[in-house]
Amino acid sequence: MDSLKKRPLFNPKGDVDVQRRKIIGGNTTNLNDFNNMKYGWVSDWYRQAMNNFWIPEEINLGVDIKDYKNLPLPERRAYDKILSFLIFLDSIQTANLPNISEYITANEVNLCLSIQAFQEAVHSQSYSYMLDTICEPQERNAVLYQWKEDEHLLKRNEFIGNLYNEFQEEKSTRMLVNTIVANYILEGIYFYSGFMFFYNLGRNRLMPGSVQEIRYINRDENTHLWLFRNILLELKKEEPELFREEDVNRYRRMIKEGCEQEIKWGHYAIGDNVQGLSKDMITDYIQYLGNLRCSNLGFAPIYEEHISEPDSMKWVSQYSNANQIKTDFFEARSTAYAKSSALVDDL
Ligand SMILES: [Fe+2]
Ligand SMILES: [Fe+2]
Repeated sequence: MDSLKKRPLFNPKGDVDVQRRKIIGGNTTNLNDFNNMKYGWVSDWYRQAMNNFWIPEEINLGVDIKDYKNLPLPERRAYDKILSFLIFLDSIQTANLPNISEYITANEVNLCLSIQAFQEAVHSQSYSYMLDTICEPQERNAVLYQWKEDEHLLKRNEFIGNLYNEFQEEKSTRMLVNTIVANYILEGIYFYSGFMFFYNLGRNRLMPGSVQEIRYINRDENTHLWLFRNILLELKKEEPELFREEDVNRYRRMIKEGCEQEIKWGHYAIGDNVQGLSKDMITDYIQYLGNLRCSNLGFAPIYEEHISEPDSMKWVSQYSNANQIKTDFFEARSTAYAKSSALVDDL
């Protein structure tokens, strides 16, 4: 087992020269200097993440309270199960990110991880707000803890949960990279059958407040995916021994397992009973995402089909990429950090 050293906190003898900075195994002073970053993408990332600031309670859920009561049973069941799953994911993310940070020796990357952890906490808060507003108190608790009682849900949470736990138990570089890949899977695949379900509600003109909450969450998750992708790409350059053929195949197998779990879950939670969605659509879309996540890391695809976005799912990006206009980070600031009604138009 290769050992991994926790970064020191107070370290006056740490490297000042940015060229010596490394994602892992460096000698960091932990000093946050925004004008001297080794990883140039951090400036863009940081600005985008700050521009994404939003407040869950500023979205009105009045229509959702009425809609929820009238949702057809399959939609209501899916809504509860998917919400329960998302609650679990964001909670475990909030708890796990500081564990990763302890071993990252590029302080600018740790800044990003701190902001991400803050955003995951806001996501958890948004789910509480949705539950408290939309559901009766007894329904609320049933949704909140379904992830412990529903065997399908528990089983799939175990995959990511166990990977995170393994890193708790074995502090090795291999386990750290596994955890980073697990994060990449969580941010890039695990949320997506849930997002797809909410956007389908939006297409059906139902639960507009919930859909809006999810769009804001999705916008944040896109930046988290961007962060973990970049961490992995930097590691690939700096630590090629962690990306030998057998390692890459292990990461690809993990991504494939994540996709298979997501597909099974989508079939169980959504199935063929929700108007506008089907098992085939779920399978096609998640396989496409799996291939995309692999190619974004320079890995070979994991599925032969679905190299490009399936035609049947093009509508998803109308919701999830509504914010693409904000590629100019400076331009975005004045509109993104706005209040109430402007936030709604903003997406
Ligand atoms: Fe999140
Ligand atoms: Fe996230």
